[in-house]
Amino acid sequence: MKKALGTLILVILIFVGAWMFYKHSGFFLYEQSPLQYMPNMHHTRALIPQRGYDFYKNGAATRVPPSGTLSRNQKVYPYKKEDDAGKVERFVNPLPITLDVVMRGKKMYMQYCVVCHGVTGQGNGYVVPPFSQPPSLNSDKIRGYADSQIFHVITVGQNLMGAYGPQIRENDRWAAIHYLRVLQRSENPTPEDIAAFDKMLNKTGEGSK
Ligand code: HEC
Repeated sequence: MKKALGTLILVILIFVGAWMFYKHSGFFLYEQSPLQYMPNMHHTRALIPQRGYDFYKNGAATRVPPSGTLSRNQKVYPYKKEDDAGKVERFVNPLPITLDVVMRGKKMYMQYCVVCHGVTGQGNGYVVPPFSQPPSLNSDKIRGYADSQIFHVITVGQNLMGAYGPQIRENDRWAAIHYLRVLQRSENPTPEDIAAFDKMLNKTGEGSK
């Protein structure tokens, strides 16, 4: 009985092995692995950024869009960096405040802003110094800004701060602003906020006595 089982397994293994060889070895050329007439289209050479190639005059691996052109569905931001954020039209964040949105905003903040503005928005990020210290994001000025005015600073930059519009998608910028408001509120909690926080901690048994 045992011997029969062993033989059966052996036969199956031989069969599977033969089948794989037939299918994948390339030995049966015409049937299973057709000749590649232009193999370079199957195996494209991946270009590495900033390596320098002789195909384009400037040595780049990819091209930049011709100036004055837009990709489909691309929106044009109506203001420039020189425009004062305080004078930008005031309107509220188009994104709803949900946990998902705020957590997405946190991700953006921790990815793009924290290096300069710091974990709490005080301006003590990892690159400060040598980078000059940005003003606090919890200032009366920024607390008084409409979301659209903060969006302006992120999108086109302001003085020393570069533009993050080209790097962060529009909705992710709006989400980052919701998170920035969370940071501001955590610095200036209302009595209700503190009560709600205490209640939450008490539930987990760590409440302030
Ligand atoms: C490379 C460092 C750097 C990064 C990264 C950076 N900022 Fe800034 N940010 C600055 C500096 C410096 C200023 C002050 C610019 C000035 O002098 O007007 C500033 C100014 C601001 C202001 C206006 C503050 C004011 O009082 O006028 C806001 C709002 C702001 N940043 C938000 C953000 C957000 C949100 C992000 C992430 C998407 C971000 N910044 C990323 C350096 C940075």
